[in-house]
This record gives sequence, C-alpha cells and structure tokens, in this order.
Amino acid sequence: MITYNEAKSILSEYKQEHLLRYYDELNDNERADLLSQIENIDFSILNNLENKSDTSSKRGKFEPLDAVTIADIEKNSAIYRNTGIEAIKANKVAAVLLAGGQGTRLGSDKPKGMYNIGITKELFIFECLINNLMKVVHEADTWIHLCVMTSEKNNEDTVNFFKEKNFFGYNSDYVHFFIQEMAPSVDFSGKIFMESKSKISSSPNGNGGWYTSLERAGLMSELKTYGVEWINVFAVDNVLQQIADPCFIGAVINSGSQSGGKVVAKADPEERVGVLCLEDGMPSIVEYYEMTDEMITLRTDDGELAYKYGVILNYLFSLSKLEEIGSLAMPVHVVDKKIPYMDENGNFIKPDKPNGHKFETLVLDMVHMHDTCIPYEVVRNKEFAPIKNPDGIDSVVSARKLLEENDVVL
Ligand code: UTP
Repeated sequence: MITYNEAKSILSEYKQEHLLRYYDELNDNERADLLSQIENIDFSILNNLENKSDTSSKRGKFEPLDAVTIADIEKNSAIYRNTGIEAIKANKVAAVLLAGGQGTRLGSDKPKGMYNIGITKELFIFECLINNLMKVVHEADTWIHLCVMTSEKNNEDTVNFFKEKNFFGYNSDYVHFFIQEMAPSVDFSGKIFMESKSKISSSPNGNGGWYTSLERAGLMSELKTYGVEWINVFAVDNVLQQIADPCFIGAVINSGSQSGGKVVAKADPEERVGVLCLEDGMPSIVEYYEMTDEMITLRTDDGELAYKYGVILNYLFSLSKLEEIGSLAMPVHVVDKKIPYMDENGNFIKPDKPNGHKFETLVLDMVHMHDTCIPYEVVRNKEFAPIKNPDGIDSVVSARKLLEENDVVL
C-alpha cells in the first residue's frame, strides 16, 4: 500500500490534498482504509472536467437508420424465432443485467431490483425480469447464463436478496454476479467530496464499464468455455424487458450484423429518448438534447419521423466484436447529480438538488464502436415499462398500469 507521503504527492498533482485533512484524527484502520482508497482511485478521470462542454461538439454527421420494423418481424417471425431458439439451445447466448446503478430518482436506498411493485402481493423488479427470462428458458428448454452487474454499494444486498428469494426459481448455477468499478464524485469546482473523515465519495462508474468489469471478474472467459457467442445486455428497470428474445436474436444473426438494439417508435417527436441512427456512416445513438430542431421534425417521403426509433437499453452484442473493441477507451460523461457529502463542520448532508458531478461511461457509446447495428422495433406497450421515478412519467405508477395491461397480476 502507498505511504502517507506518496498519497499526498498524488493528491497534490490533482489539487485534492483536502482528502487527507482529517488523517491525524483517524485510527490505524481508518488511515489504512483511506490510503487504500487513494491508491485505487483513478484520478485521471478528473481530466474530463476540462473538456466537459465539448462532448456534443465532437459529434459527427448524423443520418437516419432504417429499422427492422414490427411489420417485418411479423412477416419473418417463424424464421427469426427458429434461428434464435437454435442459438439459445446451443448455449450461444448469455444475458447481462445492468444493476449497478443507484436509482437515485426512485429514492430507495436498496438496489432498484429489490423494489416491490406488487399491489396485492409482492412482486419485485428482479422477479419480473426473471419471470420474463423464464419464458424463454421454457421455450428453448435450456438454462441461459445470466450475469448480474452490481456495484460495491449494492452487491451484498443484491446477492443476499437473490439467495433469500431462492433466485425466484432460476437455476442458481446459471447466475453470476460481478461488481463494477467506482469513480470519485466532485463538487462543481472539481474538489472530490468526502462522505466521512476517512471515506472518499465515489459512485458506480456508469453502465458502460460492464464489459471491462465482466472480463476482470473472469466471466468473459468462462462464458466462452460454455460456447457463448452473443451477449444480451439490458437494464434493470424495465419490468416488461424481454430478455434473450429469440426473435431479436434470430433477426440479428440472420442479418449478419455485429449487433442489434431494441427500439420503440417515438411517442412524439419531442420524446426524451436517444435515437439509434448513423453517425459518420457508423451506427450511433444521438441523445434527445443533441438533436437539432431540423432532426427532430424531419420526415421521410411517407410522412414518418426520419429519426424515429428510440433505444430502450436492450442490446445484442457479438462476443468476438466485443473482444476486438474491449480495450478501446470509452468516452467519459460528466453528469450533474445530487451527491451526499460531509460538510466543513463534519455534518453529513443529503442535498435536494444537484450539487456536483459524477463520471460515467455509457453502454450506448459501445454501439458506435460497431460497424453495424440493427435497430429492432418492438411494441412499446408490450416491452417498455421503465421505472425511473416514484410517479409521473416512467414511474412505478405507469409501469404498474402497463404490467396490468399485459396480464401480470400485481
Ligand atoms: P440509469 O441511467 O437510469 O441510472 O441506469 P440509475 O442509477 O439506475 O438511476 P438514477 O439515474 O440514479 O435515478 C440505467 C441502467 O444502467 C444501470 C442501472 O442499474 C440501470 O439498469 N447502471 C447505471 C449500472 O449498472 N451502473 C451504473 O453505474 C449506472
């Protein structure tokens, strides 16, 4: 482990000496803990504060990208399904559940997947997802490897919850937990927050770190030994999420594409979703706030929105391409968040509005590292019920309504 003087010199390089301010007051264990945190933090991430405002100006030329539409899928569903089921039966498909987020908007201290959205009975978000995956397991008559990404903050709760609930009937030999990395959180002037006198404020480094973390945990090579060739990455908070969907898998495999992304037709031109399109000829996702008015309203000859298809955080990536791009640096996003911290007087403060920045990489940036990505259109009311907030848009309330519409008993 590094010495006090070494820690001091690293910190002075990044103007973060205040992290050692209480060192003299700490006991031996706390001192060792603090030094080890300093040793393990990648301070170079702070350099991203300098080019924070450049992110959107670095974007290339956008063009619309055609999707495999609901009508195409209806026409070819038997062929797609057949290819998908065959791939699943041959153990070629694994799933990765991104559950390392903190769900701050939902406001629960527990992992989001532990949220009970039931009304007359318990129905947890994790349980909904497992129920959805079980449908495919039954159809293919094959267990599917499910890797669950957690963070240091929620790993213990998540693992214990799955065990306590007996994996909701899933085969535990096929569930693999892995922990994502952390990044420091800073105030608006770039100073790293402290949570206590010996604890540096840090948060999960965004969902884009999943590949590196999966690899670091040794799971990538394990999946390869099972014969996995495709990885379906999805978010924890869409309770209608269809995982390892045979038709989606079949459509991507049959198209010869390196990847696919599930999309929904935008509810209206202004909807705040990222759109799967082309950027300098390569697949890419343009965020709603990066779109010009012209892009938002542009129509095709048949009157449809040209930038029509919003992503729902459900991607299929080929393992061989992932191995190729895995070592490339992902863009780092600097985002404003509410960050709990210890103030000058040693009081722990939970802010009610954003008070600083977190650093995140995003899985959607991986799409642009591929040569090809098929947007695969799904029926919104059947596959998209995200839970971001307690009520209003994308909330527990709206998701419950959609679950009931889909005959899920709450
Ligand atoms: P969100 O961007 O909605 O973030 O995550 P969040 O942390 O769940 O919620 P807020 O913004 O704090 O309210 C989209 C998906 O990415 C995962 C989440 O668990 C969710 O499945 N995620 C996000 C991670 O796995 N790690 C992260 O560091 C961030």
